[in-house]
Amino acid sequence: MKTVTVALTDTAYPVMMEQGLRHRCGTLLAERIAPCKIAVITDENVAPLYLADVEASLKQAGFTVLPIVVAPGEGSKSFGTLAKVVEALAAEKFTRTDCALALGGGVIGDLTGFAAGCYLRGISFVQMPTTLLAAVDASVGGKTAVNLDAGKNLAGLFYQPKMVLCDPECLQTLSAHCIADGAAEAIKTGILGDAQLFDIYENGDPAASYAEIIARCVAYKAKIVAADPTEHSVRKLLNLGHTIGHAIERASDFAISHGHAVGIGMAYVTRAAAKRGLLSTDTAKRILATLERNALPIHTAFDIDTLDALTKVDKKAAGASITVILPEGIGNCRMEKIALDEMRQLIADGVGEEHRP
Ligand code: GLY
Repeated sequence: MKTVTVALTDTAYPVMMEQGLRHRCGTLLAERIAPCKIAVITDENVAPLYLADVEASLKQAGFTVLPIVVAPGEGSKSFGTLAKVVEALAAEKFTRTDCALALGGGVIGDLTGFAAGCYLRGISFVQMPTTLLAAVDASVGGKTAVNLDAGKNLAGLFYQPKMVLCDPECLQTLSAHCIADGAAEAIKTGILGDAQLFDIYENGDPAASYAEIIARCVAYKAKIVAADPTEHSVRKLLNLGHTIGHAIERASDFAISHGHAVGIGMAYVTRAAAKRGLLSTDTAKRILATLERNALPIHTAFDIDTLDALTKVDKKAAGASITVILPEGIGNCRMEKIALDEMRQLIADGVGEEHRP
């Protein structure tokens, strides 16, 4: 068992990783949470694959299980679905000593965390990521949210889980598209602070290295979240590629998935950083080639004005400015606060000469 601790000032929680861990999640949970009612919130894709294993293990450890199965996809990150989840908890008379468990990808984790954070003003919750994206990023750090018509993740809480239980065996059933989504967040971590992780994606065999990839990403993220749990300083680094990425997701009405959109967002800021002389052309080429090697797009057909308008409602905007993350090398990025008016130029610099009409 590999364990990384996320150590915050007021709490600490473990991220536990092991092949086949879902079969003993009940025992691991019972070490930290007294047997209680536990709502396992999952989606229609994950439920047939892993719900029975998790349910059996929880019941064996003395938990009473309430499965709540929602529709798959970004559409479930809504106030409508959130209301259904908390009404289900209330209907089953969940109290503050009961618990929610997110079994799924980033959508399920964000939805479950928000439901747990607001139901009775807060009940415990546990993350069990079943996608690479959730394992390397979304399940750690306590960001929870639903989307609003105005933008992605605009309503939510910082609400930390009691523990994160990751079973890399669950990645075996993921589509290539889903694996590429996770690769985007892992490559992001490599560019931010882990050259060896980047090397796995640039030259190695990621499919043979998921345990190492997850452990490296979680170790990096645990450090950042411990230093800045609510994103006032260094946690902003984790938004590399995300401002333009969120705009692309919104522009496509979420037809372009999060990881793919973040991949394009990283390609844009990479080109923009090279154009500003912050990043060597060679390193920029390496980043773009690594994204492509891992089945991620590096261009979008959405025009500059569309993307610019959508970045203005990004939650990372603060007053008339926004902090963008620009790569300066592999394992080294800078935070740059720019006026919202300058965003258009940054996007234009990110388009790339070969794609300019
Ligand atoms: N996904 C970025 C963060 O957790 O801060």
